[in-house]
Amino acid sequence: MKAKIVLLPGDGIGVEVLVAARAVMERVAELRGHQFHFEEAAIGGAALDTVGISLPEATLELCKQADAALLGAVGGPSWSHLRGSNRPEEGLLRIRQELGLFANLRPVPVFPALIDATPLKPHLLEGVNILVVRELTGGIYFGPRQEGDENQPATDTMLYSVLEVERIAHVAFLAARARQGHVTSVDKANVLATSRLWRRTVDRVAEDYPDVELRHLLVDACAMALLRAPAEFDVILTTNMFGDILSDEASMLSGSLGMLPSACLGEGRFGLFEPVHGSAPDVAGSGTANPIGAILSAAMLMRHSLDLEDEARAIEKAVEGTLSAGLRTADLCREGENHVSTRDFTEAIIRTLE
Ligand code: NAD
Ligand code: IPM
Ligand code: MN
Repeated sequence: MKAKIVLLPGDGIGVEVLVAARAVMERVAELRGHQFHFEEAAIGGAALDTVGISLPEATLELCKQADAALLGAVGGPSWSHLRGSNRPEEGLLRIRQELGLFANLRPVPVFPALIDATPLKPHLLEGVNILVVRELTGGIYFGPRQEGDENQPATDTMLYSVLEVERIAHVAFLAARARQGHVTSVDKANVLATSRLWRRTVDRVAEDYPDVELRHLLVDACAMALLRAPAEFDVILTTNMFGDILSDEASMLSGSLGMLPSACLGEGRFGLFEPVHGSAPDVAGSGTANPIGAILSAAMLMRHSLDLEDEARAIEKAVEGTLSAGLRTADLCREGENHVSTRDFTEAIIRTLE
């Protein structure tokens, strides 16, 4: 098949992991006779430095004409003093919003070969298979905000409408139906009005899915339960900010934040795919970044935007095979253990594909 894929490297290790993901996709195209047309566009701090804005109009337009986009990461210390709409992170928030990508799927891959790399006791990881469904274009990320100064307080505002909750709830229930049939909706309904509306709405949507079991959990208790009994979760349905935090926590079930992929989806086939991690300024430039989150995001791109399930599986199996062969990037190792570079790890995945 022919497909147009926009690459948005962004900042820090975002650039390094996209080189890896692109190489994997190019090899998949060769092996399976596809024509993937890649175009690179600027976003984040890199776009601020070159074009003066974190989401250039040209980048948005390119995405609107493409089948899918893959993002590295945005942000870093050179831009951390900036405020408001001038920040690199704002470019990422805007592209999600402008493209209507309200549903963020964040699966937590647990590979048997990596059980030793996680800080949890191995028996807790048996049977763990979690999908975080994070609302992505609402909540406190997008409400009115005031930076504040000596004379007035800073404010952030959390808003949720019934419609926003309904559409993300449907995504979670449909996903659960194709998995273990269990949704945990996570909120802070003992304090927040937005959470009480969230809970009422999720209860109503649940009536359409009598075959799916629903439980509600407060976010503080959820943070604890994810470490006490992660195997008790199937789909976690939650708000923008809680989903952001809980998915980083859940990443340690897979061994590293560098492992997690994600899909940002809207009403149509187009998706923006991104590893869950950030630009990792502490390791950027060292050639040691874990490319798996980005490579598994490329697999999700194949699956969700191109309908190439076999290709997605082939990439996932190649990652698993490479880990089973004992290869590790530094983030998956204890001190003194052997690790390989981003490039060597990626080459091994590509060889395993064949
Ligand atoms: P981070 O995710 O960049 O890094 C957190 C820790 O995890 C660091 O120690 C880092 O070295 C490590 N890490 C993350 N991904 C890794 C990988 N693939 N391989 C090896 N190690 C990895 O979070 P942070 O340090 O809090 O944020 C840095 C910048 O990234 C900030 O500007 C933040 O806003 C931005 N950020 C961007 C995104 C995104 O673009 N999607 C996501 C999160 C954070
Ligand atoms: C993520 C990131 C972003 C978010 C930031 C960089 C805006 O942390 O994708 O998880 O909070 O959504
Ligand atoms: Mn995050």
